[in-house]
Amino acid sequence: MTTSTPAIINLRQAGVCLVIEIADPVPRVLYWGRDLGELDDAALRSLSVASRAAATHNSTDRPRYCSLLPTEAETWSGTPGLEGHLVEGTAYPRPTLAGWDASGDGSMLTIDLADERIGLDIALRLRLTPSGIVAADASVRRSAAADGAVRFVLTGLTLTMPLPERAVDILDFTGKWSRERSPQRSRIGMGTHLRESRRGRPSLDSPFLLMAGTESFGFGRGEVWGVHVGWSGNQRYLVEALPEGAGATHTATIGGGELLLPGEVILRDEETYHTPTVYFAWSPEGVDGISAAFHALLRGRESHPSSPRPLVLNTWEAVYFDHDLDKLLELADLAAKVGVERLVLDDGWFSGRRDATKGLGDWTVDSTVWPAGLRPLVDRVRERGMQFGLWFEPEMVNLSSGIAREHPEWILAPSDRVGASIRHQHVLNLAHPDAWHHVFARIDALVSEYAIDYIKWDHNRELHEAARRDAADRPGVRLQTLALYRMLAALRERHPRLEIESCASGGGRVDLGILQHTDRVWASDCNDPVERQEIQRWTATLLPLELIGAHVGSRESHTTHRVTDLSFRLITALFGHAGIEQDLAILSPAELERYAAWARLYKEVRPLLHSGRFVRADLADGASLFHGVVAESRRQALFSWVRLGTSEPVQAGRIPIPGLDRTCTYRVRVREEAGYPSLQEQEPAWLTRARHQSFEVDGRLLETAGLLMPTLNPQEALLLQFDAV
Ligand code: DGJ
Repeated sequence: MTTSTPAIINLRQAGVCLVIEIADPVPRVLYWGRDLGELDDAALRSLSVASRAAATHNSTDRPRYCSLLPTEAETWSGTPGLEGHLVEGTAYPRPTLAGWDASGDGSMLTIDLADERIGLDIALRLRLTPSGIVAADASVRRSAAADGAVRFVLTGLTLTMPLPERAVDILDFTGKWSRERSPQRSRIGMGTHLRESRRGRPSLDSPFLLMAGTESFGFGRGEVWGVHVGWSGNQRYLVEALPEGAGATHTATIGGGELLLPGEVILRDEETYHTPTVYFAWSPEGVDGISAAFHALLRGRESHPSSPRPLVLNTWEAVYFDHDLDKLLELADLAAKVGVERLVLDDGWFSGRRDATKGLGDWTVDSTVWPAGLRPLVDRVRERGMQFGLWFEPEMVNLSSGIAREHPEWILAPSDRVGASIRHQHVLNLAHPDAWHHVFARIDALVSEYAIDYIKWDHNRELHEAARRDAADRPGVRLQTLALYRMLAALRERHPRLEIESCASGGGRVDLGILQHTDRVWASDCNDPVERQEIQRWTATLLPLELIGAHVGSRESHTTHRVTDLSFRLITALFGHAGIEQDLAILSPAELERYAAWARLYKEVRPLLHSGRFVRADLADGASLFHGVVAESRRQALFSWVRLGTSEPVQAGRIPIPGLDRTCTYRVRVREEAGYPSLQEQEPAWLTRARHQSFEVDGRLLETAGLLMPTLNPQEALLLQFDAV
């Protein structure tokens, strides 16, 4: 650990640099953004001098700075980096520099801070990942020197980075059941743009990825700064602007962290609190640049799924709770026939579970519905060459269940009441060691017995009054989240080939914390392609397509009752980890053949879709979407031109194709395996040529002039492939 100051550290990766001044009392960011290149000591010192603040009128006598962990001790009047108090004692932590260490390869910086009076040791870690994301985390430890009898109540640890003056717009997300990741825009004004989740999970209205950017930034334009909190419990995101700015050089801060409930973290005797990792991304190329950095980060993980993402059939919207072996065997046969590679048996298979009111938590196969266990179905699935997946909701119970009756002490609720039910269910306190072991043992036994390949891990309610009955009713969201992570990790350790999907009332738990332990997310319970188009393309702001579950639902959507064309449903589900969620037995042979052709197409294009760069065009017409995936080599791309509704213009106009190589000539192909859309206006000449002859066009023209897109009827999509010749 180096202790000498001052020093200026320049972390550089992937065109991004982060310059930190190791100043007392707490180091600060001098610069975050476009790579400044190799800077010698003199250049770094000039940057420091050029960033030095001046004192302002009627304010602090010394210039104000905004450090990496600002507190009132530094005259910071915004949201403190570190909040907490000694029980019946001071609420004014004053961290000061104790040491720092920059790793040899120039991508890691650890800063040690201490507050000797209170007795805190704080470590801040900043890692600039190979794709240029700043992954930050911190820990606070009650130091050995502290008076062990006096506890420190930690109320918040928020990690922030500074924003420059030109960041003026905000983009973040809200949502509800069946409409997750709904974007919302606002302006940075004075004060705090604060988004909190107090639902015990990121939830359906999660801010998800909070971005600030230059005026009117878009998918392909503007400079963007983004933050994501990699955590599956309560959390907070903020952009904060004070009149005095964030130090002299920056006007606002962006950041986030875990939202701690009162009394949730009380430290004594060398106990340590670890923050989740908070990810900061910067892009000079709009939101797509932010996405590319996150996708590269996720794809670079050792645990990232490397096998082709199998085509799924999920039984939920096909049969719901109505489990009947013959019906499910027929479904398995048809699924195999159309090319499905993994069948997932959803809710309804376990003891007493005939509807949503009973049985949750009793993880044994229901012997009335499944007299021979799941074996006959599992065997058929395997005989047909498919993998087998099973649904669980391990953190939940119905009060009408064996487990809730036998172990009321395991329910996560105040001792004198069970609290409100949501979907007839309550939460099991997984931080209770007996409850944890019970649930783990049941899942483990079933995974072993049936050699289960895949778990759909559901979580269908918010947490309210999450009181730990075994700990004087102290709040338990944090411990619940950690116990969940432990269980997922333990299962994967025991069953290394097991894949897990994160589902929470649809897409209510989509974050990089859960993704450390899971292999895909269920984006939404809404399989209506009109809604799905938006949900998937926004979910892809953070996640690459191979991690986003996308299913073809019924002709009439079960959630919106909108009726849509098969080709539109098929093309929509292609842009994700594709699957089917409908009763195949009611389809005609011709329709089944359409599914089979689409399945072949999915298998052909998934290597591209699951490895390339996802790009979205900025279009003025909100009724049209244009997005696609461009191979890393840029020699191939697959785009989808989508029409959600009608709009004023008669013609869609020429749309530049983003992401292609200007030096290449491309052959444009129309992929019609999933169907060809119905058109509202005449087919443009190039499209007729591409369909029936051959159409080649220069990359420069595609990128600048673009292609005159056909005006489709509402709720239609066209699939275009570009191959360099
Ligand atoms: C909610 C999920 O989002 C659905 O896909 C389905 O698994 C149901 N739960 C089952 O209860």
